[in-house]
Amino acid sequence: MTEVKQTVIEKLKQDKKLEKIETESKEIKAKIKELFFVQKEAIEDLNKVTNKKEIEEIKIKYLGKKGPIMQMYSTMKALNGEEKKELGFYINHLKEILTEAIKEIQISLEKEELEKKLEKEKIDITLPAMQIEVGAPNILEKLVEEVEEVFLSMGYDVVDGPEVEEDKYNFEMLNIPKGHPARDAQDTFYIEGEEILLRSQTSPVQIRTMLKGEGKTPIRMICPGKTYRRDDDDATHSHQFMQIEGLLVDHDIHLTDLKGTIDIIAKRLFGEEIETRFRPSYYQFTEPSVEVDISCFNCKGSGCNICKHTGFITIAGAGMVHPNVLSMSGYDPKEWSGFAFGFGAERMAMLKYDIHDCRVFYNTDLRETRIFDRKDSDKND
Ligand code: DAH
Repeated sequence: MTEVKQTVIEKLKQDKKLEKIETESKEIKAKIKELFFVQKEAIEDLNKVTNKKEIEEIKIKYLGKKGPIMQMYSTMKALNGEEKKELGFYINHLKEILTEAIKEIQISLEKEELEKKLEKEKIDITLPAMQIEVGAPNILEKLVEEVEEVFLSMGYDVVDGPEVEEDKYNFEMLNIPKGHPARDAQDTFYIEGEEILLRSQTSPVQIRTMLKGEGKTPIRMICPGKTYRRDDDDATHSHQFMQIEGLLVDHDIHLTDLKGTIDIIAKRLFGEEIETRFRPSYYQFTEPSVEVDISCFNCKGSGCNICKHTGFITIAGAGMVHPNVLSMSGYDPKEWSGFAFGFGAERMAMLKYDIHDCRVFYNTDLRETRIFDRKDSDKND
């Protein structure tokens, strides 16, 4: 800055136009002399300047409305044409050289301040970087996302339902009346009397979705969600677990449609060579009901620890929606038919990621999630 300042000031000092006055009029001569003193004073002021604020003050002092230059312009009114021209020339000249000088110093001060700031904020790129923890999705969540993606691609909606549920939806409208022995199989957490409970399965969302459809709209939905049963926690049991429910209701739906759908999801999740198998089973809300097995992705059917030497692994319960369930939810079973399924999300994740204890999904040990971060498992796919 000092260098620039000195050059600017030197230039101003060299400018002798106001010193060597060539004019007849005494009055004009006096005024120009005044201007010359202004120039001298400005030089002194500029010499002292050290920061942006000061240069701004100088700008106002000399070039502002109340400054000497503007004042001098206003005295021109009283002069005749020739005098006006003459004085105008000198005022303009002083205005020009001061404007330029101030501007140059201003720019150099700004540059200097910016440089100082940059110097202060300089980053030493040779310093070791701060470690930023990168998160990874919970493995269960990741599996659910994968399943959702497949079903969304087949035109299914992903829907949600309450975890605190009414007995009516969790059991009754699923064809499991009070006192039915099937209720015993689902040891339920009751919250208020026998009417409000923590849902023991995601199947009540089937009912809620059908009621919304009012017996008119075809349905294609999956509902992944938490469920609860009074179980003692161990490697394969948890009082809180996750199911992925599915429901399709339309015209002319058959067991083969269910088989085809399950086949697609099994192949997408576990590999193209996977085969699916249905075994007869019993659920109150489906008829017929099946257990869904997939051929063992580990031993390809020849028998290993994972499939307990059967060559097959059970991954879901499923079936054709029971006519009672359809009609209780407002769908005429003579017109409509459908299938439903329920996957155990933990079981699928354990199989897919070779996890042997379902408690890892819930015990918030970050080491587990880190192992299965998104990138790694995509590579394995
Ligand atoms: N809700 C059943 C259970 O928790 C699983 C299930 C079986 C769901 C068959 C279904 C189904 O939708 O059709 O054991």
